[in-house]
Amino acid sequence: MKNILVTGGAGYIGSHTCLSLLNKNYKVFVIDSFINSSQKSMERILEINKNSAINHNKNLSVFEGDITDMKFLKKVFLELENQQIKIDGVIHFAGLKAVSESVYNPLIYWNTNLIGTLNLLEIVKKINCKTFVFSSSATIYADAKDNSRLTESSKINPVNPYGNTKASIERLLRDVSQSSKEKWKFASLRYFNPIGAHPSGLIGENPIGIPNNLFPLIINTAYGIQKELKIFGNNYPTKDGTAVRDFIHVMDLADIHVKVLEFMINSSPINLNLNIGTGLGTSVLDLVKTFERVNNIKVPFSFTDRRIGDNGYVVADNSLCKSKLKIKSFRSIEDMCRDGWKWRKLNPNGYLE
Ligand code: UD1
Repeated sequence: MKNILVTGGAGYIGSHTCLSLLNKNYKVFVIDSFINSSQKSMERILEINKNSAINHNKNLSVFEGDITDMKFLKKVFLELENQQIKIDGVIHFAGLKAVSESVYNPLIYWNTNLIGTLNLLEIVKKINCKTFVFSSSATIYADAKDNSRLTESSKINPVNPYGNTKASIERLLRDVSQSSKEKWKFASLRYFNPIGAHPSGLIGENPIGIPNNLFPLIINTAYGIQKELKIFGNNYPTKDGTAVRDFIHVMDLADIHVKVLEFMINSSPINLNLNIGTGLGTSVLDLVKTFERVNNIKVPFSFTDRRIGDNGYVVADNSLCKSKLKIKSFRSIEDMCRDGWKWRKLNPNGYLE
């Protein structure tokens, strides 16, 4: 059985990934500060798996603390060493991720995202664990020209501090992987737009504050928390004039992390950048309509001006991911809408009672 360390494992993508890892019989060691996440997600993972033949309680450990705190990290690794646990791979989610907040608070973003990653790399190097998956973002790409799909070699040019931290960490990993003495295996996963929730409705995206992203806002509107959804722009050069995105079900994304780990554990040293999307473009209007249809609920909307900094078309060329990881299909937009709504209906306040 392999031991995987997951930083930020209680967050939205982290919690779904922990579930996928446990289901594949990995032992999971989560580090999370719970600043933007809830311990409840860990309990829910165990609840989802309570009838499983595998004893998941035994396979999930949680350490509460911040990766920018080197003393805390050293303590965690000392404890693992004392228990003779050898970490075979790291999945690094921990970090701040709100684009607009990063514009107002760049120092906090650089500190948490960059220093946290540097600390983690330093310590995993010491314990000789060299398999490292980093959660990057498609936000690092420059505008796509002529509605074409983005490939891993498309131009990198982030336009906000959050994107700058992600692109810089990718560069850091590239530098480290090129150092001749070390034999690292790195994968930076450039997520497109993850939405949805586990089909049980027990784990999902925990709403803290007012969301900025489209899917949680669709849900809030359907729930009546806001009167209508503002659709930013209906004059893009797309089929219905609204912006097009590549939405991916969070469970597909979670399963991909496990596949990447398996690929890397068996590979020679590598520094892999992978687009993680379905390769299918869905317009904002299409997403709203699909949500209404599958959930039989109205999402009132109106059109307004484009949001500053938005691109009209952000879709992945995912051929590298599909071929490397042997992925044949993805869950549908219908699944994403159904599962996301189920989570919200069952948990109107997220993980709060
Ligand atoms: C955003 C982030 C990106 C992050 C991703 C996570 C920015 C610039 N980028 O991408 O870094 O990785 O979320 O999912 O914030 N929209 C509306 N009305 C709304 C909200 C959004 O029409 O009330 C539209 C937007 O204009 C956009 C589309 O929906 O065209 C998707 O928006 P959003 O969910 O915020 O994601 P991205 O902007 O693609």
